[in-house]
Amino acid sequence: MIRANFDNLENQIKQEDFAKTLPHLEQAIDHLLEGTGPGADQTAWFEWPINYDEEELWELELAAHGVRENSDVLIVIGVGGSANGAKAGIGALSPSFETRLSRVNRQVPEVIFTGEDLNATKLKELLLYLDERDFSLCLISKSGKSLEPQLAFDFLRSYQLERYGLEEAKDRTYLITDPVKGPLRAEAEALANNSFQVPAGVGGRYSVLTPVGLFPMAVAGLDIHQMLRGAQDEKLNFEKEKAKAPCAVYALLRHIMHQQGCKVEALACFDSKLSGLQLWWEQLFAESEGKEGKGLLPISLQLTRDLHSMGQYLQDGQRDLMETFLLVDEENPVRAWEREVWDWPSQGEKSFKEIERLAWQATAAAHTEGGLPNQTLFLDRMDEYSLGATLFFFETACALSAYLLGLNPYDQPGVEAYKSKLRKLLET
Ligand code: PA5
Repeated sequence: MIRANFDNLENQIKQEDFAKTLPHLEQAIDHLLEGTGPGADQTAWFEWPINYDEEELWELELAAHGVRENSDVLIVIGVGGSANGAKAGIGALSPSFETRLSRVNRQVPEVIFTGEDLNATKLKELLLYLDERDFSLCLISKSGKSLEPQLAFDFLRSYQLERYGLEEAKDRTYLITDPVKGPLRAEAEALANNSFQVPAGVGGRYSVLTPVGLFPMAVAGLDIHQMLRGAQDEKLNFEKEKAKAPCAVYALLRHIMHQQGCKVEALACFDSKLSGLQLWWEQLFAESEGKEGKGLLPISLQLTRDLHSMGQYLQDGQRDLMETFLLVDEENPVRAWEREVWDWPSQGEKSFKEIERLAWQATAAAHTEGGLPNQTLFLDRMDEYSLGATLFFFETACALSAYLLGLNPYDQPGVEAYKSKLRKLLET
């Protein structure tokens, strides 16, 4: 479960602002619980940790087992919400240097993400890498229409057909798309012997706990049942505590800060393995809230690294941002030093983790003094259960935040602008 310390932020807010905004939060909560808000047909993600299709989950695990048996590499082809969730989970929970181990010593296939840009050099390099490895493809696209994944899939598919022939290529291809709509669903049988669903009422950036995120994570050996359990418990806690639940308070505070002129929220993590989770969080909030001239711009900070680069701005630059620390509060006994550290006090033994905690305290205090309001979310540990809870926490907070702004959290009309211009250019 996620704990929070909101003190440094609450101190910045007047009691009357809380009182004024609370009824709006309560209305946003009703919207979410009763399915009465804008975009109500896209709220199936909220029930999914309870309502997921057990038979499909079982089939998904069986398929993941098959990939583990016959592939050194799973290539996940998808963009935005079709890739960021799995990246977050695998980045946070898989051993960092596993991919550099020899294939004999690796427990699970390497998962490589592609189809997120138009980089032909990297695709060609990928073919060279695959030459000595057995691989499977997993194409994830709810609409079946995103350009970048289609191009990457076509490129890799030709190579896959050359390598394995049609029947084996179909065995080695996994499609995850809308259950009924879209060109990919229409072609599913011709392309692959395996397909899963992005449930109808779940949009891309809210789909991490469906096959979209769960299949790649299962291939990578993560316990997806524990992940769903974490999300279930987070959901139950929210339903019990409502406006007092930490995810609701988080939504309320960032909303009030936004009303008071704050324009940017930085999510600051001390654990660099959470960079994928930060990317997922950025997309979730940017696409859900960045509409009609509203919304906090979500940016990520990796600490303490960025204190040596962005630190000056954070301490002393323009004062229109707020900071949310996300801290994994788990003991880790690795000792930091045996000898004196030049120029730093080094009495007694300390672990890296203890120093990290002190660095967090120091950063929060310094930023408060510098006029950068901050709050902290704590995870007791980083495992599948905790990650599932964290993902659900942010999804809930994000939907509430968007409702507080009077927005539909589930559409992204702005994304169409570049697509339609590119379409026109491609036609000429
Ligand atoms: O959140 C969203 O809906 C988007 O980010 C989509 O996930 C992204 O655009 C990819 O779309 P699709 O899965 O249809 O290819």
